[in-house]
Parts: sequence; structure tokens; C-alpha cells
Amino acid sequence: MIELKNVSVTYDTGTVFQRPAIRNVSLKIEKGERIAIVGRVGSGKSTLIQLFNGLIKPDEGEVLLNGKNIHDSNSDLKKVRKSVGLVFQYPEEQFFAETVFEEVSFGPKNFGFSGEKLKEAVYNALTEMGFQPEEVISRSPFGLSGGEKRRVAIASVIASDPDVIILDEPTSGLDFIAKKRLVEYLKNENRSGRTLIFVTHDMSEVLNVADRVIAIRNGEKMFDGSVENFFSLPHLIESVGLEPPFIVKLMFRLKEKYAEFPFCRNADELILHLKERWRGSAS
Ligand SMILES: Nc1ncnc2c1ncn2[C@@H]1O[C@H](COP(=O)(O)OP(=O)(O)OP(=O)(O)O)[C@@H](O)[C@H]1O
Ligand SMILES: [Mg+2]
Repeated sequence: MIELKNVSVTYDTGTVFQRPAIRNVSLKIEKGERIAIVGRVGSGKSTLIQLFNGLIKPDEGEVLLNGKNIHDSNSDLKKVRKSVGLVFQYPEEQFFAETVFEEVSFGPKNFGFSGEKLKEAVYNALTEMGFQPEEVISRSPFGLSGGEKRRVAIASVIASDPDVIILDEPTSGLDFIAKKRLVEYLKNENRSGRTLIFVTHDMSEVLNVADRVIAIRNGEKMFDGSVENFFSLPHLIESVGLEPPFIVKLMFRLKEKYAEFPFCRNADELILHLKERWRGSAS
């Protein structure tokens, strides 16, 4: 379980650029949750998630993993990062190695994998991300296309088998098929017990994947609750620079007419409920 207690982060302290990026945020994340982090450009989303695995140290407050402050002198940040894996917003910021194999094997190697077990972890992670491992392992990660880079960045995190997967705008730059595949993979991983935290500007993704939404505005947490509650507050959605998906707009129009109309996450659910109502009124 990850917990932030009254956390603040200020960049460029002591310079004319000094500016708080996270302001007094407290939150708790339990095992197995699916959390979407949303907010306008520059609102503090990337800063927030980098607190979760200790890449950024708070200026005030505490970050706890399973009840222990991750920045205590006796805490092991390497272990924290084994447990909480983070895929960067821009894959190049994450890459350092000369080959894809080296890149993806860095994490598992660091955490004690070697020989066949290491190779298996790397090949499995690349296969999960839709690659033919043999075709890509010897290439430079920097020479890949944007979408390939993103998938290698994700592979290098999942290869370490983390309990929590954090992804910063993971589907940006992916085509429809790659997006769908990634979303299915992440949902599956979550079903098998992994906690999923992702930053996104795509409201359909929030609706489709998340069960909880945390909205950030100007470094402050301004909403933290269920997807249903989030989407029933259109003013709030607009205030964080977002637009509800068409399905949600349609569902709320139906709710205006039929108060008991249930919350639907996609077109299939909506059609199913419409069919039931149709059948009900026809009989
Ligand atoms: N390394 C840094 N040094 C100085 N300021 C930074 C740094 N990283 C982020 N900031 C500033 O902190 C604020 C929050 O940035 P952050 O990257 O967390 O926002 P974001 O919500 O992820 O934005 P985006 O949607 O564009 O990715 C911004 O004002 C940004 O300019
Ligand atoms: Mg960001």
C-alpha cells in the first residue's frame, strides 16, 4: 500500500524559478486498485507519480510503502523500485543502454535474475508488448520508432515483475491496435493482483480501465473518488481541462429522463440497458 501524507514538492528552490509543483497532497492507494491520474498540462501529474517510487523526494511530508517511510535512512530504495515500477512519460528519459536486451534486462538483473531466467523475463516482457524478441533485442532503443520506444519502455518495467505498475501517459503515440493490446494487457495484470496507476488525458481510457480517479489542479488534489462520481461532475471535468466521452454524455441525457438508468462504461453496456428497457416497455 502506498500512502502520501501532506506531501509538497518545490522545484528550483532558492532560485527565481522556485515554484511548488505538488501542494500538501495526502492519499492512500491499496493493493489491486486501478487509478487514473488526470489534470491539465503542467498540473503536477508526472511529479506526483515519481513520488510513489522515490524518484522524487518530497520537500515536506512523507511517502510510505506498506507503512514504511521510503526515504528513512534504513529504507532500501532499490527494493521500493522493484515493487513499484514506473514507465516514464518520455521513453528516451528512461533509456540508457546500447541494445534493447540490455535495456529490458537492467531491472531484472539488478534484482538478482541471471542466465536463462533473465533471458526468459526479457523475452516474455517483449512478447507481452507485441514484439518478436529476436527481431528487436540487438537494436538500439534510441533508434526505434516512437510507439516501439514506448513498448520497450513498458517491457523494461514489467520484466522486473513489480507489484505496482505506474505508467505516465502510456498510450500516447500508439496506434489503435497497440493501444487496445496494451489496455487489455494492463487490465489482465490488474486482475491477477497488480496495482495499476496511470496518467492519461484520454477520458475513454479512464472510463474503460480505471475504478478510481485522482484529479490534480495546480499541484493540489482536487478530486479523489470513483469513476462514477468523477463522471457525474461535468463542471469538475471541464475545470481540469477535459471533456467527458460521448458515451458518458449520452448516459447522463438518458439519466435525465430515466433517473434509475445505470452507469455504463462503454457502448456495449449502454446498448444492453437500452435493450432491457425497450423490452420492459414493449411487454
Ligand atoms: N525537473 C523540473 N525542474 C523544474 N520544474 C519542473 C520540473 N519538472 C516539472 N517542473 C514543473 O512542475 C510543474 C508540474 O510539472 P509536471 O511535469 O509534474 O506536470 P504534468 O501534469 O505531468 O504535465 P504534462 O501533462 O505536460 O505532462 C510544471 O510547472 C513544470 O514546469
Ligand atoms: Mg507529465
